[in-house]
Amino acid sequence: MKIFSGSANKPLSLSIADCMHLTLSPAELYVFPDGERRVWIEQNVLGEECVVIQTTSTPVDTHYMELFFLLDGLKRSGARSITLVMPYVGYQRQDHIFRSGEAVSMEVIVKILEVLRIDRFIAVDLHSIKIPEFFTLPVMHLSALELFAQEIKTNGWNSSDSVLVTPDMGGIRRIKILSAMLDKMPYMTIVKNRDLATGEVEAASSKGEVKRRAIIVDDMISSGHTIVEAAKLLQKQGAEEIIVMATHAVFSSTAPQLLQDSLAAKIYVTDSVYISSEKQFAKLIVLSLAPLIARKIK
Ligand code: R5P
Repeated sequence: MKIFSGSANKPLSLSIADCMHLTLSPAELYVFPDGERRVWIEQNVLGEECVVIQTTSTPVDTHYMELFFLLDGLKRSGARSITLVMPYVGYQRQDHIFRSGEAVSMEVIVKILEVLRIDRFIAVDLHSIKIPEFFTLPVMHLSALELFAQEIKTNGWNSSDSVLVTPDMGGIRRIKILSAMLDKMPYMTIVKNRDLATGEVEAASSKGEVKRRAIIVDDMISSGHTIVEAAKLLQKQGAEEIIVMATHAVFSSTAPQLLQDSLAAKIYVTDSVYISSEKQFAKLIVLSLAPLIARKIK
């Protein structure tokens, strides 16, 4: 088996390869002065089982183009099969038509990946469970919830003083699974309103009983507004300690500062997205997905 990595999150690719006792295979990812990319598979992959790891975080289009060229290079070089590991999937929130006339961007991406003849797709905590249905090939949908459950147990947080919280109705399935992993830890839901034009978020109301510790669980943090507003509402309702656990640290614009200044005490994320040193902050704790992904590739 040969493992190739795109440039979006090399540290994660190296850790995955390390967990599998393998090294990354070389591929030249050259950027021309005008920004165009050229990919060259430097090794013989004829008849080989290949794995390509590329997270499609910001700059999302650039990372997708690089990935498309990597996949094409491998197929043209005779790779027998390609497993694509995309820990964070760019465009996944555009998985249906919100307003008539909109493109379903996620479906377009899936069509391109299938044209490029990947054989298997591995992703982590997709925004909706409908996304695997866009594919006609096998999809392995992994989840960071087992890492979060472990962290909750290690900290000794339990049902007597803690409640799991989903900051919007879309996360209800996720929170029920986590609750089941934690001996039915109680959970509550926040009703969030988002203005589609401005992106502004309001945590309007909640259902369920707040406890001393509220553990907000989400699939991703982008602007950070969902977390900030949810934390405000939970504190108003009596929570004394607010913990956040979100799989994908998308962290656009001012998110790191907003999160550091928020009412949350700790923010757990995974390394599905590379977090540069400028985007790190004191409350941030990063859990690695590498062992989980390595196990599943095998
Ligand atoms: C929304 O449906 C997602 O689950 C996240 O809550 C959302 O994408 C977070 O976005 P932001 O950090 O921009 O509020």
